[in-house]
Amino acid sequence: MEKPKPGNREPNPERVIPRFLLIAFSCLLLISLVAGFIFNYYQKQMMDRTIREQGSGILSSYGSKTRDSIEKGQRKTFQLVMDNTAQLEGVTATTLYPREGLMNYRSGAVTVGLPFVHDQDGGFRNPNLDLYEKTRGMFLRKDWHLTGRFDSAAGQAHLAEVQGKSCAECHYVLDENLSFDNQNRAEVLDARVAHFYERIPVEDKCTVCHTYWQIGETAGVLGVTIDKAAFLQRTRESTRQLVYILLSIATVVLGVTYLVAAMYRRILITRRQLADKSDRLAGLLNNSGQGFLSFGPDLAIEPEYSRECVTFFGEEVAGKSVAALLFSEDEEERGLVFDEDIHLLEEEDDYIDEDQTAQAENEYLQIFADGMNSSGTSCSR
Ligand code: HEC
Ligand code: HEC
Repeated sequence: MEKPKPGNREPNPERVIPRFLLIAFSCLLLISLVAGFIFNYYQKQMMDRTIREQGSGILSSYGSKTRDSIEKGQRKTFQLVMDNTAQLEGVTATTLYPREGLMNYRSGAVTVGLPFVHDQDGGFRNPNLDLYEKTRGMFLRKDWHLTGRFDSAAGQAHLAEVQGKSCAECHYVLDENLSFDNQNRAEVLDARVAHFYERIPVEDKCTVCHTYWQIGETAGVLGVTIDKAAFLQRTRESTRQLVYILLSIATVVLGVTYLVAAMYRRILITRRQLADKSDRLAGLLNNSGQGFLSFGPDLAIEPEYSRECVTFFGEEVAGKSVAALLFSEDEEERGLVFDEDIHLLEEEDDYIDEDQTAQAENEYLQIFADGMNSSGTSCSR
């Protein structure tokens, strides 16, 4: 009975459950991280696409609805359409930047064309208010159709005043890095807001009034600003849903892992107990001074046999044919095959092994040490 003790190489049963849970947890964590990363990436893509679609749709409507008032130079109807467009859901502001790029039209703010100003904290200041009220919004600088705002007398005086300063310090300046596509569109997606722009080119009908403009130049730029808050909120909600789903999956997986680990632990403990039992039995048989072995119908000896058999046959006998061993040519020399020395324990199956079905066909051989001794083999006892 030279079987290695199963407990030696097998994991410690007490460590099985924590180890299984740790492995399952690590796998879940890894999968969740990867899933979260991919989900987040696609979610962001989806969100940007939706925002782009919405922004582009609103910009188109803004452009087409203001077209008529722009062509006719009707400031008030233009302002009305601009304010209405800004009422659409998600839109924070609609704007117009003139060709010089300093914003002077914005939803919710009256204007006679002076560029808006912001203070150092970013607070909005409207220098048009006085003039607008005094002239009921009708004010037009005298040379509006002849020369640009910067080149007008008032403009030149102001520029001399603010010389050396950056215009963006006080005015809302159109981003110079905007790249307009062949549909005259551009967009900037910030973290919290998205800006959509449409360039208005100068056509020949514009130059009837704007006499100094050149056809094809930029007359101005329409702008729509969209708040991303609603989209981010939706994104956060689906992220939360994903987290809930992952958590419930993790709970189930960990639960199942716990059950499997507990079963495995039970098996390991049982195997250990069995191995101990078998060890004790082997010790008993090894120390009985008698040779015990068993063999199947094919006469091959089973791996479990007592130590004495090795002494008796002079070699390890597992798997060898019992017939060859007992009735070998040099049997005379061995002088061992005495009927009274070797007993077949056929009828005592149930005493040796309770598992009748598996071992029913096995025969058991008992070799008495006395016989061995008398036959003169080297027996330690
Ligand atoms: C220190 C703040 C400040 C800076 C810097 C500044 N502006 Fe102004 N700007 C104003 C204010 C305030 C007004 C409102 C009208 C006024 O008070 O003159 C104004 C008005 C104007 C006007 C309208 C003038 C008129 O009466 O028709 C123009 C054009 C203008 N700014 C262009 C510029 C340009 C171009 C720059 C950059 C080179 C610039 N500003 C830098 C504060 C500033
Ligand atoms: C019937 C005359 C007329 C025609 C035609 C006209 N506009 Fe104007 N436009 C005006 C008047 C008046 C203003 C106000 C000028 C001001 O405030 O300095 C103006 C202002 C503008 C502004 C704002 C400029 C600024 O500095 O505030 C833009 C942009 C503009 N027009 C674009 C166009 C385009 C594009 C066309 C051709 C499709 C056009 N306009 C045709 C009369 C006209």
